[in-house]
Amino acid sequence: MQVLKSLKRVLVLATVFSEVVYASALEVIQAQVPPRKSFDGASCKQTIVKHVFANSYGAPYVGFYNPPINCSFTTTIFNLSVTSSGRQYDRLALLFLGDVEVWRTSTAMPGGYEIFYSYQKDMTVFDTLLRKEQKLIFDLSNVFSELYTGAFNVTLEALYYNDMYKSALSPPSSIFPISTKASSQNTSSVMSLPDGNGTVSIKLPRNIKTATVSILASGNGQEEFWFTNVPSEYLYTFPENPGWLFGYSPFREVQLLIDGKLAGVSWPFPLLFTGGVDPGLWRPIAGIDSYDLQPFDIDISPWLPLLCDGQAHNFQIKVVGFDSSINGSIGTVGSNWWVTGAVYVWLDEHSNVTTGSKILSKIGHTSFNYRPFVSTVEANNATKNSSFYFSLAAHRQLTISSTIRTSSGLRNATWSQNLSFSNIQNMTDLAFNQSLAMVTTGTNYDSISGIQTTYKYPLNLYSSYIIAETKATLSSVLALVDRSLITTGVNILLYLTGTRTGPESLRTRQSAISQYSWNATIVEGMLTDTSSLEQWFSYAGHSGLKAGGVEQFGRYLKESDDFTTEDNECWSVIEVPGTIPLPPVDGMPHV
Ligand SMILES: *[C@@H]1O[C@H](CO)[C@@H](O)[C@H](O)[C@H]1NC(C)=O
Ligand SMILES: *[C@@H]1O[C@H](CO)[C@@H](O)[C@H](O)[C@H]1NC(C)=O
Ligand SMILES: *[C@@H]1O[C@H](CO)[C@@H](O)[C@H](O)[C@H]1NC(C)=O
Ligand SMILES: *[C@@H]1O[C@H](CO)[C@@H](O)[C@H](O)[C@H]1NC(C)=O
Ligand SMILES: *[C@@H]1O[C@H](CO)[C@@H](O)[C@H](O)[C@H]1NC(C)=O
Ligand SMILES: *[C@@H]1O[C@H](CO)[C@@H](O)[C@H](O)[C@H]1NC(C)=O
Ligand SMILES: *[C@@H]1O[C@H](CO)[C@@H](O)[C@H](O)[C@H]1NC(C)=O
Ligand SMILES: *[C@@H]1O[C@H](CO)[C@@H](O)[C@H](O)[C@H]1NC(C)=O
Ligand SMILES: *[C@@H]1O[C@H](CO)[C@@H](O)[C@H](O)[C@H]1NC(C)=O
Ligand SMILES: *[C@@H]1O[C@H](CO)[C@@H](O)[C@H](O)[C@H]1NC(C)=O
Ligand SMILES: *[C@@H]1O[C@H](CO)[C@@H](O)[C@H](O)[C@H]1NC(C)=O
Ligand SMILES: *[C@@H]1O[C@H](CO)[C@@H](O)[C@H](O)[C@H]1NC(C)=O
Repeated sequence: MQVLKSLKRVLVLATVFSEVVYASALEVIQAQVPPRKSFDGASCKQTIVKHVFANSYGAPYVGFYNPPINCSFTTTIFNLSVTSSGRQYDRLALLFLGDVEVWRTSTAMPGGYEIFYSYQKDMTVFDTLLRKEQKLIFDLSNVFSELYTGAFNVTLEALYYNDMYKSALSPPSSIFPISTKASSQNTSSVMSLPDGNGTVSIKLPRNIKTATVSILASGNGQEEFWFTNVPSEYLYTFPENPGWLFGYSPFREVQLLIDGKLAGVSWPFPLLFTGGVDPGLWRPIAGIDSYDLQPFDIDISPWLPLLCDGQAHNFQIKVVGFDSSINGSIGTVGSNWWVTGAVYVWLDEHSNVTTGSKILSKIGHTSFNYRPFVSTVEANNATKNSSFYFSLAAHRQLTISSTIRTSSGLRNATWSQNLSFSNIQNMTDLAFNQSLAMVTTGTNYDSISGIQTTYKYPLNLYSSYIIAETKATLSSVLALVDRSLITTGVNILLYLTGTRTGPESLRTRQSAISQYSWNATIVEGMLTDTSSLEQWFSYAGHSGLKAGGVEQFGRYLKESDDFTTEDNECWSVIEVPGTIPLPPVDGMPHV
């Protein structure tokens, strides 16, 4: 412990002597399934972005992507590398090829000293975009000032491999953006909901055999921690602590509508970025998915009899929450849901028009079970609220199906979902103490793969804040997190592309505790901060690669204060223990 503390001090001092910085930069890791066993043997490579994002708010990097010349390839991997030092928050970044968002990421936070990371993502599903010149827009809105001195130095490299696949690769033949389509104005095409217009009119080809929609959605600002928000009618439960709670409930549903009719929904994964709740938790091991926010895929093949009629159709993305004051309990949400989508299309080469039956939709309404409870105390002849407890549970089922006729005959197309959600919160001490136990579970069935996909996101979170009276004094937070991401089934987009060929399972858990202090000039934490985190990560799947594909992968990581103290990787699955509810609020262990 003593040694680690003094090392940390050396790191902070090192920022003063720039030549020392590189040697002592801290790697901030996000565990992931490696896209391949080795990155050796690339047919060719090129750097596509090299840019320092300093004062880049609303000023994205704009350039061009050009396919490599004289290079045969099947697989494309992007390698994103970022360095930063100084004082800075974590920032969200969106990468567009034309009007299509191909990667949403968030940065690590520098800790006063220099940090770096790199992350590799298989981009083969975007093959149709990668073989033509594209406007490339990388929007990393950063604030750079005397106080926020951290710039992000970004390098994006493309690696191309001439891999053999088990069966022919079949990336989508066209990709149609559901975005503001603003690349011609050199700006990000992200839609901001619920304030913006989430609707795009698209005329699709008439001979589609398969189509899916992928949606990327993240809450920002007062919606970043949507899962800790409260029903709006309880916003003023603790008037002595105004502005601390955010509303619209902790339930969020991201909807896809085709011509105004529901085609599928996502009950999002509760993301915790590297500054999330307590930045100490995620340094140097970043939160699940923070460098590569995962899209939600919906099979829209049942809609083909309609979509192949040669007319334009409206694709709309909406984000809704729970509102007990509205009949049906579905209401709006706070601003700054940043959303894009894309329609991925595979053509039927042997037919001119796909036809089919009427589309049958069985859309269950979301049923809610909501129990709020405020307890009070008597003090100074007045009644005051002492705690606010509530539980909110939700459930929904939907099935959309049709029979479609393509050149290979008639087939049934079905998309069905079954979702459950439970969120229990208890807040005391004017909501400075907050505990959360949440779990989202879901099942999707698509008739393309015929494989049932299930997912489960348990999140247990406790935070206790002490907010200083004056700016000169330090505020602090004690935070505990125990959460997992568990999925089994199929990634439809990768399965249809052929980079994955069968069912897969991923199970990862992070269990962490951190005590963190800050004031108005110190946002990156103090030398007195302590943290510990353990992460288990285990994957088994079926790679489409003939050789060098990842079929199994395991990683165990441990951090102590600002250091990775254990990092063991293997090409096999590992045991991942389940999350456990956090200890009761009383008798909370201290770091
Ligand atoms: C958009 O960016 C490109 C590439 O940097 C540049 O050539 C072009 O002039 C810009 N167009 C506008 C309208 O700013
Ligand atoms: C591409 O390869 C062809 C044939 O080998 C050669 O003639 C041409 O110069 C190459 N082009 C570039 C830009 O290297
Ligand atoms: C990714 O880029 C970084 C920085 O340039 C480099 O250190 C790393 O080796 C690259 N990774 C791969 C797989 O090429
Ligand atoms: C950004 O990183 C590159 C190395 O990838 C380095 O050469 C360059 O000097 C850095 N720029 C700044 C402004 O730090
Ligand atoms: C949103 O966009 C769609 C498609 O372009 C258009 O039909 C609709 O009128 C727009 N709605 C609003 C409120 O602007
Ligand atoms: C107690 O909480 C309720 C529900 O939010 C609120 O309406 C009421 O004003 C609060 N009472 C006090 C004394 O703060
Ligand atoms: C709520 O909506 C349902 C279904 O539309 C309707 O039957 C019911 O009367 C409504 N209730 C109220 C209180 O408006
Ligand atoms: C598709 O349309 C073309 C041009 O009208 C026609 O020649 C061809 O026979 C059609 N193919 C099929 C499979 O109907
Ligand atoms: C409480 O109310 C009583 C009766 O009105 C009064 O005598 C007493 O001073 C009050 N106490 C406080 C602490 O205000
Ligand atoms: C589609 O499903 C229905 C109901 O399960 C079945 O009766 C029908 O035979 C199926 N059609 C095809 C073409 O598979
Ligand atoms: C909420 O937390 C307080 C403080 O620990 C505790 O007394 C109370 O019983 C909790 N409420 C519920 C419903 O668990
Ligand atoms: C924040 O704390 C540091 C270290 O205690 C101090 O140097 C700085 O002045 C404080 N900031 C403000 C705004 O008082």
